[in-house]
Amino acid sequence: MTFVRVCGLGELAEDTPKRVEIDSTPVSVVRTGGEVFAIHDICSHANVSLSEGEVEDCQIECWLHGSAFDLRTGKPSGLPATRPVPVYPVKIEGDDVLVSLSQES
Ligand code: FES
Repeated sequence: MTFVRVCGLGELAEDTPKRVEIDSTPVSVVRTGGEVFAIHDICSHANVSLSEGEVEDCQIECWLHGSAFDLRTGKPSGLPATRPVPVYPVKIEGDDVLVSLSQES
């Protein structure tokens, strides 16, 4: 599994998603509740950037129609989205946040 450094831990404000790209794949990196998560940055319902949405209760909400995706599993908690969004493994090394594009589940 290849991990790529995407940013420094200090660049991530709590509950404020940061959009990064790994090999042209958009990824939203989220620090919340003392953990860091990486989720594909495009909603499974339409072509909308999830990093522009709000984070609450370990979920990121799509600002367009309100489906919220679990940052651990990528599963939507409600309509209109029905399909999960890929989530990616994260590693913290010192102040570096690393993400692998291999999917966790
Ligand atoms: S575009 Fe995200 S819920 Fe519709």
